[in-house]
Amino acid sequence: MLTNKPKSKILVDGGDPDETSQVQKLLGFVDGQTTNPSLIAKSPEIQQRIASGHSLSAQEEKEEYRKIVQAISPLVGNAGVSVEVFADLDTRAKEMLAQGEEMFTWIPNAYIKYPCTHEGLRAAEMSVREQIRVNMTLCFSQEQAAAVYAATKGSKDPVYVSPFVGRLDDRGENGIDLVKNIKMMYKRGDGHVHVLAASIRHLDHLLAAFALDAELVTVPAKVLEKWAASNFAMPDRDFSYKAANASGARLKPIPFEELDLNLPWQSFEIAHELTAKGIQKFVADYRSTLKRSA
Ligand code: E4P
Repeated sequence: MLTNKPKSKILVDGGDPDETSQVQKLLGFVDGQTTNPSLIAKSPEIQQRIASGHSLSAQEEKEEYRKIVQAISPLVGNAGVSVEVFADLDTRAKEMLAQGEEMFTWIPNAYIKYPCTHEGLRAAEMSVREQIRVNMTLCFSQEQAAAVYAATKGSKDPVYVSPFVGRLDDRGENGIDLVKNIKMMYKRGDGHVHVLAASIRHLDHLLAAFALDAELVTVPAKVLEKWAASNFAMPDRDFSYKAANASGARLKPIPFEELDLNLPWQSFEIAHELTAKGIQKFVADYRSTLKRSA
């Protein structure tokens, strides 16, 4: 069991309460959990139903999602459970907000995940006014993180922004640089947005997130098991992150940008190809669990 807790809060990236429970036993604690439509589609409950020939209606899928987060909620600490709205590229802010309002009532420690898009940011802006906690997901650029900061100013609770490290690595860019750049940019801010390093694929990502003092990091159970097997290795003072992909090729650095956090959020360049791709993948995974007629 872990005796020296890192400063970064540790969340489980998954959709299975049993898995969260196992991690809880392994670490002795779990600070929080992130879920998303792909992870929920893969959850054992939903997969069993599909395997026995019972695809779900949209309402049944929502009910399953609710049951899953209600089972996870009491297992985790104060970093809460992030629950993602179902949004495609045409979903408007009002519709996302309506889903967020409902999901926020499911559990006492919910964070509502909206995508880092124009509509997602509008939904977040309205949510924080209603004191709905938010986690801005599918973040792939410093501009998006600046927009998250500006759109959620005045939030009573910390707002999370989730830079997706592994998916940037996948296309040859050093995702860890994005975490570093956002942290550096936010130093000039009021501290209301916390960086949640996401899309963590291996132990080095985890150690780099710790070394950068990311406020939170969400990690698949498999990577946490590797961390436990390493006897909960921590980055020492000389830790330097090897920005390389699985085959050893160097990842392209992402340069820091000078951005003014006091500008209106709409003035930032919000669009990012990977955000749009991410939404499409979530929609496809979600639809794969639904009845054809749904
Ligand atoms: C974060 O909240 C996401 O669920 C997650 O980290 C995505 O990771 P992936 O790129 O491995 O799908």
